[in-house]
Amino acid sequence: MAVSVSVFLGFFLGLVFVGLVSSAKFDQLFQASWANDHLVYEGELLKLKLDHYSGAGFSSKSRYMFGKVTIQIKLVEGDSAGTVTAFYMSSDGPNHNEFDFEFLGNTTGEPYTIQTNIYVNGVGNREQRLNLWFDPTKEFHSYSLFWNQRHVLFLVDDTPIRVHPNMENKGLPFPKDQPMGVYSSIWNADDWATQGGRVKTDWSHAPFIATYTGFEIDACEVPASVAATESAKNCSSSGVKRYWWDEPTLAELNVHQSHQLKWVKARHMTYDYCTDTARFPVMPLECVHHRH
Ligand SMILES: *[C@@H]1O[C@H](CO)[C@@H](O)[C@H](O)[C@H]1NC(C)=O
Ligand SMILES: *[C@@H]1O[C@H](CO)[C@@H](O)[C@H](O)[C@H]1NC(C)=O
Repeated sequence: MAVSVSVFLGFFLGLVFVGLVSSAKFDQLFQASWANDHLVYEGELLKLKLDHYSGAGFSSKSRYMFGKVTIQIKLVEGDSAGTVTAFYMSSDGPNHNEFDFEFLGNTTGEPYTIQTNIYVNGVGNREQRLNLWFDPTKEFHSYSLFWNQRHVLFLVDDTPIRVHPNMENKGLPFPKDQPMGVYSSIWNADDWATQGGRVKTDWSHAPFIATYTGFEIDACEVPASVAATESAKNCSSSGVKRYWWDEPTLAELNVHQSHQLKWVKARHMTYDYCTDTARFPVMPLECVHHRH
């Protein structure tokens, strides 16, 4: 088996606590999925290169349900206008679920934008946009997706920037029955990415390079042969099987995290589909039920 899986047995609240940890190097968890020759390995670092021939991408070898995936990324330095670097989890098929981080480049000195989106049963259109409280091209910062039966969290350096709660009790679907792969890529999107598509990629500044390190997947691994319904059952805590992501303390944001999220929304959010009345004359139901 490619991924080192260690099972910790301990006692947690009097119950047996089972966790699966795989924190490892790139090639234990991932493989090139697109333009192998545009991935450059430098010790602990992986670089994805975009030039006028091609972008590049990688994907996880396994699929997962619930848990946390973290990657440290240093985004394209200098002129990154027209480029998009993405880090996301996605299931397969027409009714797929997807949790997206998209980093939209900008001209030199202008801020990167983070766009997040969520697809549930094949339907997206849930974009939010933020600028960051640091320059993401100078150092590595960690970007994480945390996922359990209660919510999906998007985190930047462990600060929550977005929560998508389970609102099944309001009749809304929640992504909790399809195992997801983990993906990242860089490509040219100058038809829309930067300043609404007005600023085009300046190929004289190629190659555009995003650098990665610190790949961590602490999640329930689902063998390719296992059916989705079976894996949903297997990755849920029941009886003596207790997964760390089902701990009661992780069922919702703690007070500190709620404050952090409020701060991010007040200071850094530049777009929220929930308040885009031109696009959605009728507010999407999930936005009605979930106000922060
Ligand atoms: C790029 O910079 C401009 C000017 O500061 C800003 O309005 C825009 O939101 C930034 N991000 C993108 C992706 O265009
Ligand atoms: C269930 O989970 C265990 C422990 O993670 C794993 O070894 C096994 O392959 C899984 N079985 C199914 C059917 O997913």
